[in-house]
Amino acid sequence: MIAPLWASARVGAGGHMQVIDEKTITGAALDQMSTTPNPRFKQVMSSLVRHLHDFAREVDLTPEEWLDGIKFLTAVGQKCTEHRQEFILLSDTLGLSALINALHDKRGSESATKSSLLGPFYRADAPMLKLGDSIISKSPGTEVCFYGKVVDAEGKPIPNALVQIWEPDETGNYDLQLHDPSEMDLRGCFHCDSEGCYYFRGLCPTGYMIPMDGPVGDMIRAQKRHGYRPAHIHFLIGAPGYRELVTALYVAGDPHIDSDTVFGVNQSLIISVQKNDPNNPLPKLSSIHFDFRLTAAKDHMSGRVGADPKQIISKAAH
Ligand code: BEZ
Ligand code: FE
Repeated sequence: MIAPLWASARVGAGGHMQVIDEKTITGAALDQMSTTPNPRFKQVMSSLVRHLHDFAREVDLTPEEWLDGIKFLTAVGQKCTEHRQEFILLSDTLGLSALINALHDKRGSESATKSSLLGPFYRADAPMLKLGDSIISKSPGTEVCFYGKVVDAEGKPIPNALVQIWEPDETGNYDLQLHDPSEMDLRGCFHCDSEGCYYFRGLCPTGYMIPMDGPVGDMIRAQKRHGYRPAHIHFLIGAPGYRELVTALYVAGDPHIDSDTVFGVNQSLIISVQKNDPNNPLPKLSSIHFDFRLTAAKDHMSGRVGADPKQIISKAAH
């Protein structure tokens, strides 16, 4: 029998035609990708294709549903700007970011403070401040003193560790979400002292709803989820020879502590505000105390599940 013209592209080297159906398509796609020289890229893409095909078969995905998915992902991309990262928000709300963090923590050589989400509101260019300074430049609210140490796996202080901090205002908005997102508020960077100590003034953390005005918000509403994150403050901590730590501290008693929309809470990261802590370096304020533990750097891999949105946009353009 003569193969029809449209099938000629699928005639294999041995001359026999490959039949593409719902079972054989996966093998055909994997065969074609088998020429990938980079072994890790090959492994990741092959696994992705296998799982994607299994998913489509499992739910018997229709053309309309496939197109809805394409439209949704297109809208997610269109929502991204240098101040907004809707793809990271999607990853967060699907639990993928929390999973990547958990896998990253498992690969650490020693036990360290648990990672938590970087989220879409990190900025690489926060101002450098002095220990004891305030990260509040304009937002009103209840001030607290955050303090503690950065230590290694044995509990030895790490001098001069760089601590980056960001948090939302009392209305639950980050500076990037306000009218002029180029103005910074509630962020700062500090170097620990020679004993690994840090302390600064910030706002008592507030819970908030994740940005719901985009396609991810539509998905959350369609799933009847509440969309809230419990009150928290973000930390990104680094020191030469140690693995960078991306984490956050969560306030005990928040009504959403057990149902974070982005799955960032870990029991070990829950703190409470203390009123008369004798070790508080700013005794006029209530305090939040936490010591961060870093593990030795065993690879050069970043622990950041995300980036400053501006950096992502500029990389995508090149
Ligand atoms: C955040 O904590 O900043 C955040 C994390 C994930 C999604 C939205 C916000
Ligand atoms: Fe946050």
